[in-house]
Amino acid sequence: MNRHESEDIEVTYDPRRCIHAAECVRGLRSVFDPNRKPWIDPSAAPAGAIAEVISRCPTGALHFQRRDGGPNEAPSPNTIVPAENGPLYLRGQVVVENNDGAAIGRDTRMALCRCGASRHKPYCDGMHEKVGFEAPGCANPQAPDPHVAAADDSDLTIHVVPNGPLLVSGAYEFRPHEEASETREGGAFCRCGASSNKPFCDGTHKKIGFVAE
Ligand code: SF4
Ligand code: FES
Repeated sequence: MNRHESEDIEVTYDPRRCIHAAECVRGLRSVFDPNRKPWIDPSAAPAGAIAEVISRCPTGALHFQRRDGGPNEAPSPNTIVPAENGPLYLRGQVVVENNDGAAIGRDTRMALCRCGASRHKPYCDGMHEKVGFEAPGCANPQAPDPHVAAADDSDLTIHVVPNGPLLVSGAYEFRPHEEASETREGGAFCRCGASSNKPFCDGTHKKIGFVAE
């Protein structure tokens, strides 16, 4: 985890969770400049503008803590959006737990692997592009969903089944593609990349001998 500070804001960056060379650089090039070292300069823009751009980082690689008394990030409503040919994007009060039920991650934004090839499972590390993963989903997963209900304060829990799917507990808004959105509760999402019913698990992980902690 890398830390970058100014008087008004502290920015943390986890390179292992960054897959998406767009939102931050496009949003605020003066602060996020991949051609500079260090590439993040929190003194180059007002804290509020930096916070706004960081809240758009879909993977949770970037976070911030205001030091100027401005608002810190509030979780958005729980949502799950499969990206076309890419990961499962989650927002809200997301908790990832292992097979023993112990929390191994908690975040407001997350990208989870659904191609089966990430070296940083259950998180996405961008391998879907290298392996040519193909699956239907939202072509523009960052677009705001007009159907999303008001936030509640319940967790969206993701139980990572060894050698199997991601089991979801809790209610969430599900957006399988741009034109559709529905409120769902629970579900098993494929993370081996081989289901014929993506983004859901259909049991194929057993047939292909999927191995993942
Ligand atoms: S928005 Fe997040 S995932 Fe995308 S490039 Fe910036 S840090 Fe990485
Ligand atoms: S995890 Fe892919 S089919 Fe079950």
